Amino acid sequence: MIVIATQLPELRARIGQWRREGKRVGFVPTMGNLHAGHYALIALARQHADCVVASIFVNPTQFGPNEDFGRYPRTPESDQEGLASAGCDLVWMPSVETMYPHGVDATVRVSVPIITDMLEGASRPGHFDGVATVVAKLFNQVQPDIAVFGRKDYQQLAVVRYLVGDMGLPVEIIAGETLREADGLAMSSRNQYLSTNERPTAATIHRTLQQMRSQTLAGNARLDVERAASQVLRDAGFIVDYAVVRRPDLSDPEWGEGGPQVALIAARLGRTRLIDNIAFDPGNWPLAE
Ligand code: PAF
Repeated sequence: MIVIATQLPELRARIGQWRREGKRVGFVPTMGNLHAGHYALIALARQHADCVVASIFVNPTQFGPNEDFGRYPRTPESDQEGLASAGCDLVWMPSVETMYPHGVDATVRVSVPIITDMLEGASRPGHFDGVATVVAKLFNQVQPDIAVFGRKDYQQLAVVRYLVGDMGLPVEIIAGETLREADGLAMSSRNQYLSTNERPTAATIHRTLQQMRSQTLAGNARLDVERAASQVLRDAGFIVDYAVVRRPDLSDPEWGEGGPQVALIAARLGRTRLIDNIAFDPGNWPLAE
């Protein structure tokens, strides 16, 4: 029987009981409106823990003033049913007042430097301060042994790893694979903003990432790969925030550099902003010679 906790004492009592029983606690933070991608993260958490907690909290501090906080889909009943079927033991559903007892403007803020200035951080100023702040609070409340984050939010995963490493938090971060629709579109709660006409076009993002990978593997210069990707997206009707190839730590690779890399795209189609990425390893061929 799944437990729904909305108050901190309830959450702490339940998790305290598990700890006394020597159980390992897994955690999957979410903003709700769950889909198969989230349920796969729950299944992954279950492989690494005896008990799994999922949080549902649409975090106001990670949305910019003109972003979709107000219209972000909220579907708590179906989320709870889905989580129960996915093998989640406890759903943590705090209120804004519980998460921000002094108000969102007077909260203690956690700010991760450097990797938050670029890409998503540049397109969405303040976004990662909101993410780092809420994740630090959630970790404090749940005190999990492991926590699972999806690879689709590649930079978020890097930010969370930095936060945990820098602050010495006793939680192991595990990355879950991106689940895709049949045409390659990464599963996301925001996909439902797409109109019927836009929906097939949205899969261009994944196809473009695949092209970026094959062009990089074929030895094309990074800037040419990035320029071509942006053009493909613009031709399909997107407004492109970025289409880049980076090292796994998100720094710029040198010309002709081998080793693991990641292509990342953020682009808007109508009212919908989509992000996705693809990781690959061109090995170490000496292109510069
Ligand atoms: O990825 C998300 O859903 C959110 O950014 C997270 C990690 C739950 C923090 O609000």
